[in-house]
Amino acid sequence: MLGVVQELTPVKTPQTSSRMQSLAERAQAVSPGGVETAFRNLGFPFVVSKAEGARFWDADGKAYLDFHAAFGPILLGHRHPAVEKAVQQAMQSTDPIGAGISEMEILAAEKVRQHVSSAERVLLCNSGSEATYNAIRLARRVTGRPDILKFQGCYHGWYDAVALNVSSPAGKLGQKDSLTRGALEETQAHTHVCRFNDLADVERVLQAHPGRVAALLVEPVAHNVGCLMPQPGFLEGLRRLCDREGIVLVFDEVITGFRHALGGYQSIAGVLPDLTCLAKAMANGYPCAALAGKAAWMDHFSTRPGGDVLFAGTYNGHPHAMAACLATIGALESGEVHRHLFKLGDRMRAGLRAIFQEAGIPAQVAGFGSIFVPYFLEGEVRNYDDVLRHDSAADLKWRKALIEDGIFVLPKEGKRCVLNASHSVDDVDRFLETARSIVKKGLA
Ligand SMILES: Cc1ncc(COP(=O)(O)O)c(C=O)c1O
Repeated sequence: MLGVVQELTPVKTPQTSSRMQSLAERAQAVSPGGVETAFRNLGFPFVVSKAEGARFWDADGKAYLDFHAAFGPILLGHRHPAVEKAVQQAMQSTDPIGAGISEMEILAAEKVRQHVSSAERVLLCNSGSEATYNAIRLARRVTGRPDILKFQGCYHGWYDAVALNVSSPAGKLGQKDSLTRGALEETQAHTHVCRFNDLADVERVLQAHPGRVAALLVEPVAHNVGCLMPQPGFLEGLRRLCDREGIVLVFDEVITGFRHALGGYQSIAGVLPDLTCLAKAMANGYPCAALAGKAAWMDHFSTRPGGDVLFAGTYNGHPHAMAACLATIGALESGEVHRHLFKLGDRMRAGLRAIFQEAGIPAQVAGFGSIFVPYFLEGEVRNYDDVLRHDSAADLKWRKALIEDGIFVLPKEGKRCVLNASHSVDDVDRFLETARSIVKKGLA
């Protein structure tokens, strides 16, 4: 099962009375579970003290080659010099003022509009959840309808309307599977869940709820359960259905935006949404996000006099995040970073395929660009039903062994592994050598 929070057998930590251990105990005494985000609880003590380039170090000084990228924001590498310098300069000139706008916010919004073709207007906020929340609220305003549609396996944030049906157990497929207690059932009743890559399922839900769906949200590549690529015609079909039914098509490009291309996955797919949500890689680790889309609709936001859809946030357009965003986009504009990442990604996927094939282990190595994920199963992986055939035990064993050897991947089954531009060919080869020796010892 692909659970969200789970108990794991601890990875062997070398020193049990280490500094890390004692910090983890202090963390647990002050914060429930000793972490700030449910998804960061690895099931064993893990305290990080510094990061640079392709590596980070734990509180005991052990170095890890990082293939997690903080769930996606780290695109150029940790503490990339250009980003760090831009942030330091911004810190010397300003902090938030909370009135009007700064030049850097204008520049950042202009950069998003320049690169993302569906972005006629842009509003900046701090997190992916804020971007998708505002997209849904706007869609309800422009359509006058109450419901939304999402896909099994896609994640769009932590609030009630979308906190359901991500890594559901098999028994919950086809039912509402909330990620949380305490959510309003009435709110989640307005969210319909369909199968990814299955247009007929979307048709079925739309016919069952005629004139009710305001927004259809989709990760154009479903990366929250690894990597489900959209099948040819899927995104085009969603566009067509949304046009036919007057539904707002929202591409949640929180992971794919800037990571897969400056113009987002929409620029690769050639399918334009009405609204786009961006975050993570747009500022290489600083809290920066954006909602972008059709001018006529974005003009409903109350940032404009007469706008009747509230858009607010004390830290929106934070100058240090803006500096990071501008430096990150600037570093991507020559195309060199993406060429490097795609080359590394291809090498990694080809290397892993060869390793599993040599060992006779049934596996599909999925991925795109800088993202890779092995699914231990036979046959194709097109949607979440397929992911459920994944051998979770083998995956966890492989991941924990990598961590012990100083290669950090999230120790949770089916989760994407992520390259950043500071990785070298040698780093990829070190990953592959380590993987080969783990696989030789067996994953059973
Ligand atoms: C596709 C997608 N959308 C939205 C979010 C929510 O973003 P945040 O955690 O910044 O609120 C995430 C977070 O992982 C995500 O992967």
